[in-house]
Amino acid sequence: KILILDFGSQYTQLIARRVREAQVYSELHPWDMSEQEIRDFKPSGIILSGGPNSVYEDETPKAPEVVFKLGVPVLGICYGMQTMAMQLGGAVEIGHVREFGYAEIYPSGDSALLRGIDEGKENGGLDVWMSHGDKVSALPDGFEVICRNDSTPIAGMADESRRFYALQFHPEVTHTHQGKAMLSRFVHDICGCGREWTMPHYIDEAVAHIREQVGDEEVILGLSGGVDSSVAAALLQRAIGAQLTCIFVDNGLLRLNEAEQVMEMFANNLGVKVDHVDASEKFLSELAGVSDPEAKRKIIGREFVHVFQKEAESMPAAKWLAQGTIYPDVIESAGSKTKKAHTIKSHHNVGGLPDTLHLKLLEPLRDLFKDEVRELGVALGLPREMVYRHPFPGPGLGVRILGEVKKEYADLLRRADAIFIEELRASGWYEKTSQAFVVFLPVKSVGVMGDGRTYEWVVALRAVETQDFMTALWAELPHSLLAKVSNRIINEVRGINRVVYDVSGKPPATIEWE
Ligand code: XMP
Repeated sequence: KILILDFGSQYTQLIARRVREAQVYSELHPWDMSEQEIRDFKPSGIILSGGPNSVYEDETPKAPEVVFKLGVPVLGICYGMQTMAMQLGGAVEIGHVREFGYAEIYPSGDSALLRGIDEGKENGGLDVWMSHGDKVSALPDGFEVICRNDSTPIAGMADESRRFYALQFHPEVTHTHQGKAMLSRFVHDICGCGREWTMPHYIDEAVAHIREQVGDEEVILGLSGGVDSSVAAALLQRAIGAQLTCIFVDNGLLRLNEAEQVMEMFANNLGVKVDHVDASEKFLSELAGVSDPEAKRKIIGREFVHVFQKEAESMPAAKWLAQGTIYPDVIESAGSKTKKAHTIKSHHNVGGLPDTLHLKLLEPLRDLFKDEVRELGVALGLPREMVYRHPFPGPGLGVRILGEVKKEYADLLRRADAIFIEELRASGWYEKTSQAFVVFLPVKSVGVMGDGRTYEWVVALRAVETQDFMTALWAELPHSLLAKVSNRIINEVRGINRVVYDVSGKPPATIEWE
């Protein structure tokens, strides 16, 4: 397995994903991981990530000395290269010009890392993605240049005898065309890792691990119908089926037929014990008269905890609470202690349960990235359609009905939303968008239908494209598709006579309207 030490680059998670795509298990840890922890990890190789610092600043992060003493291969990337150079006796020059974007580099010599890697250019050049200010200006003892270009004469270096390699550019981003081949070269050929990180293999290991952890004790899991909790449920079912009970809370703010679908899938098809709690009246009565978005979010979060807790207390045999925490959540909470962001919206999801239940925490997905969670879901027999569904927020339709939530609004919204999603799927646009839904506006406008005047509600369609949900572009859906959706909603959902399309990006808008 490969250890990745994180110096804070925005691309560090990508390194871990690329290594795993090469079917080698990798973990990401902060650069100041202790010597003992590094030894205990028993890495087959170590990668030092990029980072925002300059090696010349005071107290800049350094790789723990043990990294260079374990006798395993080390690959430094960008800042990782610079700190490797400094720590082993080379020199780094402060960059006055930032180099950012595509560059062409030329391999030289015969390094195990770049040997034979080319992309068919006549001059033997490789397109790579540079993003740095400083650069290595003198090699440490024992190192040779392995690639270069005019602006960066030491774009890569290696000490083949100690198996230390370093690249100034980023092999982990797709803009470095042969980056995948380089990382594969490092982990397979240089570190000698086998292709062992595959789903069937992972399932066997995870099942064995869960059985060992849980023994014959009982487990409860909050099932929301979302990807993470669904996959966690399917995995736990495979591992300890009879000891698992899922709690599914219907808060009255779910999508059309969602509760039925979840019950059908889990209770009927997979044979999971599901405790279906219909708390919709309670949620809606608590929400009555409340129109402030934050207040609504808090109420929905609080009610969920109430309901869940009450159910859990009725199962005294349960000793474990399983949650669908995934690897990015783990990295996030480990790394961001010092960062404090503004609260734009207080997020609620099934993960946020208080520890008053005195249950032990079981997090069967905590090693997996989102795309691995999806792959696992498919491997466990969940339908693709469910596993590749767009995200749905914890507070559900509660944040898609602007202002006060009423059952009448939720019923109209559910039907309109189902039409939009059906048409997106039929036209192939569901996969091309990252998230799409309908928003209910508590506003009436005048229309004419047949010969009569109407005075009915307005809904807005929202569809966005995004990688990380931090920024998003509104999707340029074809006009013919928008026309069809609008016609169908107005004709089929009595009570709605106007449909508008949201053309706001994030920022400055957010994806959800509340
Ligand atoms: P915004 O609206 O902030 O949303 O641009 C970004 C992403 O987060 C989702 N979202 C939530 N997810 N609990 C969740 O689990 C929440 O309370 C919540 N609020 C927003 C939103 O759907 C989008 O994908």
